[in-house]
Amino acid sequence: MSTTFALATHSVISAETTIGVLVAARPLLARIFEKLGIDYCCGGKQTLATACARLGLDPATTVALLNSAVATLTAGPAEVDAAAMGLGELADHIEATHHAYLKAELPRLVEMADRVGTKHGWRDARLPEVAAAVNTVALEMLSHMQKEEKILFPLVRQIEAGARGDISAPIAQLEAEHESAGNLTAKLRLLTDGFTPNAEACNTHRALLAGLAEFEADLHRHVHKENNVLFPRTLARAAGLQPA
Ligand SMILES: [Fe+2]
Ligand SMILES: [Fe+2]
Repeated sequence: MSTTFALATHSVISAETTIGVLVAARPLLARIFEKLGIDYCCGGKQTLATACARLGLDPATTVALLNSAVATLTAGPAEVDAAAMGLGELADHIEATHHAYLKAELPRLVEMADRVGTKHGWRDARLPEVAAAVNTVALEMLSHMQKEEKILFPLVRQIEAGARGDISAPIAQLEAEHESAGNLTAKLRLLTDGFTPNAEACNTHRALLAGLAEFEADLHRHVHKENNVLFPRTLARAAGLQPA
């Protein structure tokens, strides 16, 4: 308990840190362990030094990587001023940040939600519901982003270059899909008590909840940029109402 507290407040990681304690204090580090191939769930009792020795990783480099990741995760990504960007520039930004993040993250969330639902559904009937909602929102968002990247964003770039026309129907469809993703995310928040792990939650369950909380925060920023900035400005520009 005291070690977890020390990690959470001082962010000090050493080769002797136990992996399970580390992921419990900083669940977002789970993805770094996944990239390195370190088992943080069933192998959570081993120290970083032991895990590195097993995989032939340099402990000092691994510790430096983790400490740097903690600093980044704590600082959070710098947010851009969407309203000050050009239409094409904003579409590029959304694709390179929010869409890229979702394409990398959704398969990981689905895999963890399925695992937690199957393994622990017997003691919490809400966990299979969480898995079902994560699967649905992932499928919906992947198809939604494809529509934006293949249909809407090319139109946005054409409109910025001077094309005119009525694009209210595809925009209304995309906004309805945002609402569905928002509703599913709100359901996930409800089913997980605000993404809060209970005392019995294993490290995968904790990593899932941390990932879902981050997914929700990113979705909110992503949809804000589209619904409140990109879509209305593109509609106005397409109708010749105001300069972009
Ligand atoms: Fe998008
Ligand atoms: Fe969207």
